[in-house]
Amino acid sequence: MNDQYATQSMSLRIAAGQLHAFVRAIWEQAGSAPREAELVADHLVASNLTGHDSHGVGMIPRYVASLREGELQLNQHADVVRDAGAVLTVEGGKGFGQVVAFEAMELGIERATKLGLCAVGLRGAHHIGRIGHWAEQCAKAGLVSFHFVNVAGDPLVAPFGGADRRIGTNPFCAAFPSTGRPPLVLDFATSAIAYGKARVAYNQGKRTPVGTLIDHEGRPSIEPKVMMEEPFGSLMPMGGHKGFGLAAMCEIFGGALSGGYTTHSGSLQNTSAIINCMLSVILDPKALDAPNAGAEADAFVEWVKASPLAAGTDRIYAPGEPELAMRAERGEKGVPVDLATWQQILDAARDSGMPAADIEAWSRGARSSHGVR
Ligand SMILES: NC(=O)c1ccc[n+]([C@@H]2O[C@H](COP(=O)([O-])OP(=O)(O)OC[C@H]3O[C@@H](n4cnc5c(N)ncnc54)[C@H](O)[C@@H]3O)[C@@H](O)[C@H]2O)c1
Repeated sequence: MNDQYATQSMSLRIAAGQLHAFVRAIWEQAGSAPREAELVADHLVASNLTGHDSHGVGMIPRYVASLREGELQLNQHADVVRDAGAVLTVEGGKGFGQVVAFEAMELGIERATKLGLCAVGLRGAHHIGRIGHWAEQCAKAGLVSFHFVNVAGDPLVAPFGGADRRIGTNPFCAAFPSTGRPPLVLDFATSAIAYGKARVAYNQGKRTPVGTLIDHEGRPSIEPKVMMEEPFGSLMPMGGHKGFGLAAMCEIFGGALSGGYTTHSGSLQNTSAIINCMLSVILDPKALDAPNAGAEADAFVEWVKASPLAAGTDRIYAPGEPELAMRAERGEKGVPVDLATWQQILDAARDSGMPAADIEAWSRGARSSHGVR
């Protein structure tokens, strides 16, 4: 399944609605307008529901730290700094990525629906989280999209052939909508594993798969502490030189073309903020002379899924299907949150100014939600 670190022996299972209400309460307490708090909760809980705990509610402590450092700016909105018709440049102003990316996609969707195509360069957004969320927003409007993202000035990944961190975990995402069934959504970090997955493994006392990490001297490692404790090691790029090449394009398309910045010696930052820049290309498939596109895509997916199963495999998934399966399971059983992460979230709620009695009440509610396993 897509998040091999998501389950562990001691975790809470919290009903998605309850988790959503708690996340909203934290951000309203911190000073977000109700709509902002709602968009942040929508995005973080949806990430957990899809199995991407690395980009779910476990990000709250980092966001609160960024706010306290004066980095994350509350109640910012997407600011169109250049409107060239089918090309928009949008400044995020270190506002919540969950708000400015949502608004940037709304603008791009409106323009692509009208013109057939729109490229949106979003720069200077605070962490925009799970990129599939933005592709799904486009797909809901019937639009194809692809997204190149950099994590500006925050290197964690070694270049192919290198021994220290030079590049962000730069995600790439592409989605294809369909009538009558969920969209195909391909969405991944260009590092061998997302940084947040090393964090989740560290919190859970687990190891990471072979080929995902190197230590500070460039030696292969399976210990997530090389990412969490000094001296720091690096993530490896996914797929050797190919993942490295895709990460480089995400850096340049996302960071440079958006008018934002790439990662280099002059842009390294050392705060809790995560700054993302994203180039999104949003396309109306109806604008192409391709009335069979949906049927052809369906035929292809059916064809590949008819392949005999390899040993140890119980199913062939199309891009996005593991997330759908996880969403169904967690929607029913609740979202697992390991106890270390849960404590960090409660501490962050306190740091946001939430009264101790309220935190205690939310915590009691969560524990009785689906219990501790
Ligand atoms: N905002 C940021 O700065 C940032 C940085 C890095 C990653 N991210 C996000 O982190 C999330 C996790 O990234 P990741 O690299 O860990 O993802 P991952 O390795 O779990 O891969 C996910 C992708 O692979 C597909 N997939 C997974 N298992 C499959 C299987 N068995 N068969 C077929 N397809 C399968 C999924 O449908 C999905 O498209 C992503 O949502 C990404 O956008 C964000």
